[in-house]
Amino acid sequence: MSFRRLHPEQPDSFEFTPENLAWAKEVIARYPQGRQASAVIPLLMRAQEQNGGWVTEPMIRYIAEMLNMRPIRVLEVATFYTQFQLKPVGKKAHVWVCGTTPCRLRGAEELIKVCKRRIAEKAHTLSDDGDFSWEEVECLGACSNAPMIQIGERVYEDLTPERFEEILDAIAAGEWPEPGPQNGRKSSEPLGGPTTLTDESLFSRGSDAEALIFGQGKGAKGKAVPKKPAAKKTAEDKPAGKKTTSTRPAALADLAKVRTPSEEEVENAAPVQPKLYETPPEKVDDLKLISGVGPVLEKLLHRLGVYTFEQIASWGPGEVKWVDEHLEGFHGRILRDKWVEQAAALAIGEEEYEKRFGRKPR
Ligand code: FES
Repeated sequence: MSFRRLHPEQPDSFEFTPENLAWAKEVIARYPQGRQASAVIPLLMRAQEQNGGWVTEPMIRYIAEMLNMRPIRVLEVATFYTQFQLKPVGKKAHVWVCGTTPCRLRGAEELIKVCKRRIAEKAHTLSDDGDFSWEEVECLGACSNAPMIQIGERVYEDLTPERFEEILDAIAAGEWPEPGPQNGRKSSEPLGGPTTLTDESLFSRGSDAEALIFGQGKGAKGKAVPKKPAAKKTAEDKPAGKKTTSTRPAALADLAKVRTPSEEEVENAAPVQPKLYETPPEKVDDLKLISGVGPVLEKLLHRLGVYTFEQIASWGPGEVKWVDEHLEGFHGRILRDKWVEQAAALAIGEEEYEKRFGRKPR
């Protein structure tokens, strides 16, 4: 395996577009609480796509923070899986040419020659206009339609060098030819059409064949249909929550008693907007000292008007609920990482933090 490392020139920052952020939140929510790191590959893929086809260091840090992972763990994923590009690729297309045996036997070398002539002699090199790049990859799982290439999500199969060149011409002109087999096949049936299971009625719903395979009734017209899963409870289904206001002590002496509200308390609370600053106060705390808050979350808190430990330490269940609802993509962090308790300890001082959490603030 080749040595893979991040490109020496990196941009300053990365952020998902609002559309991609909404999509990322939906993907993260598919995983059980505490297993959000499972979303790392789809998020990296979407981020790579947004960034013109390659993964950057700020992107790795951004996703790590979003998934509450150490950046090194996200870096490991990005450097292990070769679908992630670690340096700039062609603006219009980065071509993967399958070079594994079935594709080799069916003409992959001719496709590679096209890449070398049309794009760049060496793989992972940009074409003169910067629009294309290419690399040879291992089997892409479409061996029965060899030889083939993949560009992003599009797979072009049953290729000849001539058809491949036409595809490159089209992409250069801003068009995307229909992906799939390029020789008239629908999928991987024999050229010229199927030779078995040719009776169309075999594939109609409710046919004798379907009943035979799946059992009486299933799929047949007018017969039992799968039971719908019980509708998921939504916020509207819940009983109206009690209106909660902050009961947090303001005096420093009382901060030692502060605890983070429980999940149940927050669940039953109505959202309450906490004290927010319109402009930064004279003394702004380093919110990143709260374990679980990184630069991206700190920026988000600042945008809301949260700048000090005392502000966070004063949050009751309602305030936690309100802020949580405003933490795009970071829901659940306040409770899970015990921000309120951490902030209370930090408001008193680092010694208090160490005493309470058994470690120095990061
Ligand atoms: S060998 Fe090329 S797709 Fe499998």
